Amino acid sequence: MQIIKLNAIDSTNNYLKQLLMDTALEDFCVVTTKYQSKGKGQIGAEWMSEKGKNLIFSVLKKNPPVKLPRQFHLNILVSLSIVKTLEHYSIRKLAIKWPNDILSDHHKISGILIENQIKSNRIDFSVIGIGLNVNQELFKGLPKVSSMKSILGMPINKDELLHKLIKNIQIYFKLFSEKGEDIVNAEYESYLFRKDKPSTFELPDQTLFTGIIRGVTDAGKLRVQMEDATKEFDLKEVKLLY
Ligand code: BTN
Repeated sequence: MQIIKLNAIDSTNNYLKQLLMDTALEDFCVVTTKYQSKGKGQIGAEWMSEKGKNLIFSVLKKNPPVKLPRQFHLNILVSLSIVKTLEHYSIRKLAIKWPNDILSDHHKISGILIENQIKSNRIDFSVIGIGLNVNQELFKGLPKVSSMKSILGMPINKDELLHKLIKNIQIYFKLFSEKGEDIVNAEYESYLFRKDKPSTFELPDQTLFTGIIRGVTDAGKLRVQMEDATKEFDLKEVKLLY
């Protein structure tokens, strides 16, 4: 496995994309760092991580086996790979909060940011960025965030964890290529946070409404059953309160 280990960088996703412009890299090449000065989160948020304590890395997937506009399957494969790895470490009450926050007992322990390079209406390559809270114990001002160490009460070897996680990502890509979408879709929905439970959502104008999550569309939109109809929402269009 090709692993590039850095001490500090702005963002491993940015670094990997830049490196790929003038360097031949293996499929599933990994860039990892101890610290990011500008870690990128979903919808423009920043990903904060204490220096040296957590896993911060990006994986290159050349020619991913997904067709546009069904690229959300990448999020599904990666979310499941993380969940399976965490199960191996006996992390309990795991759930995937749409679209791809990994929760343990309602606390976020991992986030994913996938950036796709599109060429001739297909995905040329994907940069899969993963932040996983491993040995950090204090998350100031973030009551709904946790780490593996906080949950398990003991420190975790980050190198072993990284290898297990990459292996699982490779396994899920293979499963998807060989067996297709149905198996992974069903598995993703089986972990979907608050599925089939009445939940409160917030719209961008701060209006609240109640609905029931019924699943996710092929385009990755959240399907929410409301009083008179089932509606589909994009990430920027709705926030689940919990
Ligand atoms: C989120 O939950 O908001 C997504 C967080 C993704 C963070 C990772 S850390 C490694 C990679 N590099 C980045 O700049 N972001 C992703």
